[in-house]
Amino acid sequence: MSLSFRDQSEVAATTYAPAARPPRPGRFPVPHYLNKYYWWAYVHPLAVRFWERQWLINLVLLGNYKKLDAAALEALGDHLPGKTLQVSACYGSLSTDMAQRIQKSGGTLDVIDILPVQLENLRSKLWPGAPVRMQEMDSEHLEYADNSFDRVVLFFLMHEQPDGVRDNSLREALRVLKPGGKILMVDYGQSSKWHPLRYLLLPFLRFLEPFAVKLWYNEMTEVMPQAMAGRTWKKTSYFGGMYQRLVSAK
Ligand SMILES: C[S@@+](CC[C@H](N)C(=O)[O-])C[C@H]1O[C@@H](n2cnc3c(N)ncnc32)[C@H](O)[C@@H]1O
Repeated sequence: MSLSFRDQSEVAATTYAPAARPPRPGRFPVPHYLNKYYWWAYVHPLAVRFWERQWLINLVLLGNYKKLDAAALEALGDHLPGKTLQVSACYGSLSTDMAQRIQKSGGTLDVIDILPVQLENLRSKLWPGAPVRMQEMDSEHLEYADNSFDRVVLFFLMHEQPDGVRDNSLREALRVLKPGGKILMVDYGQSSKWHPLRYLLLPFLRFLEPFAVKLWYNEMTEVMPQAMAGRTWKKTSYFGGMYQRLVSAK
């Protein structure tokens, strides 16, 4: 299913309710891991109103938001023509920062998310005429043709998904990427053993973000489907390894 920009803005204008109202039911049931572990962060409409604050997201990322946003943009480059896909929306300015570069380059940005309330939130951050198309979609089953995007971005999605779901999302991200295209992930990493926050934060993380713990103890390539782990991934670590950027080409 593909929608032109005009079609999509009509959909957005007619079906996305303001964030204060109860969210309309989505195309998909809310995945069990979001309902069980992340209702407070993404699912509840008040959660969106609460978390969509740049300083708060920066606090959650221990003061590293700007650095990680800049790291993502740097990996993508200044010139972003063609088609970019962001798999799942996020709080903060990354999507709008990307959209600005993409607009200057004459490209387009597709953002998918399984929760309508998240797309509606992104929409509220965009300017009229932004070259951004938003669609409700499951990262496990992207409704795009093979080899259709020049670059695919996954910003802090991997640590939220249980094993099988993460594998499927990654497979799908690679499937829709064009040969020669770039895949970019920014997420939690394997923090160094000497990192004091590792021991301080781990109990909270276990409780609040149980799937993230896997990324604290393993290289991302160790938790990927095997066929993908064999690819060349360029890894850059940030904040004592607590965060990482991974880039690969198809
Ligand atoms: C990108 S992640 C977290 C980003 C980071 N914590 C932040 O906000 O900066 C959060 C998003 O992933 C979305 N998400 C989780 N599972 C998904 C799935 N299977 N398909 C599409 N979106 C999904 C959630 O709805 C949520 O909007």
